[in-house]
Amino acid sequence: MRIGILGSGEVGRSLARGLARHGHDVRIGTRQERVEDLPVGAPAEVVTGADLVFLSVLGTAAVDVVTSLREPLAGQVVVDTTNPLDFSAGRPELFVGHTDSLGEQVQRAIPDSFVVKAYNTVGNALMVDPDLPAGPPSMFIGGDDDAAKTVVSDLLGATGWDVADLGGIEVSRYLEPMCLAWVLYGARYGTWDHAFRLLRR
Ligand SMILES: NC(=O)c1ccc[n+]([C@@H]2O[C@H](COP(=O)([O-])OP(=O)(O)OC[C@H]3O[C@@H](n4cnc5c(N)ncnc54)[C@H](OP(=O)(O)O)[C@@H]3O)[C@@H](O)[C@H]2O)c1
Repeated sequence: MRIGILGSGEVGRSLARGLARHGHDVRIGTRQERVEDLPVGAPAEVVTGADLVFLSVLGTAAVDVVTSLREPLAGQVVVDTTNPLDFSAGRPELFVGHTDSLGEQVQRAIPDSFVVKAYNTVGNALMVDPDLPAGPPSMFIGGDDDAAKTVVSDLLGATGWDVADLGGIEVSRYLEPMCLAWVLYGARYGTWDHAFRLLRR
């Protein structure tokens, strides 16, 4: 697939390297002139004609970024990896929750695109080919469009993940706080290579 990734932080770079390893044609849409040795371009140019777009920008910038790209993103599947983190109190908190979520705000900002919340409940190092000793971890996803979720689920399945589809984009209200559980476990035990797994009978 031709994949455009918005944001050149740790997530954008990890996804770019991992998905390129799987043979995808990946470019990062960024405000930077260069990002290590990775292919980059202007955000609008990178998302135009892409088969799949990842939104991997700072949570507080997410709505502004997609709003500015509403036209080129129309009709596209947008994987929202963001979390609404607020560090102003000296510890990570969420700036939206309970009755709304960043995933829903992003979907409302680009109503002609198909937003799938995914990849937000794990650290960037495990996003592609987690390869954990106990087997594939579970990626919890949500989104309003079944075809879009199939595209994202197929990619996840091909890159080492079990997929747990929880429903529409409003499940972001529950997926976004899960990132804090992931962070708290890491901070408490000094490990950053852990992931959630759903066990079924
Ligand atoms: N780090 C993780 O392991 C992890 C795991 C799961 C989810 N997440 C979530 O995924 C997203 C990306 O996280 P990250 O750790 O890679 O980096 P980040 O520090 O949250 O920022 C990522 C990128 O956002 C872009 N950005 C920042 N401010 C912006 C602005 N005002 N306008 C437009 N773009 C802006 C920048 O990209 P350019 O300069 O290239 O434009 C920056 O490199 C976040 O929402 C985070 O909460 C992170």
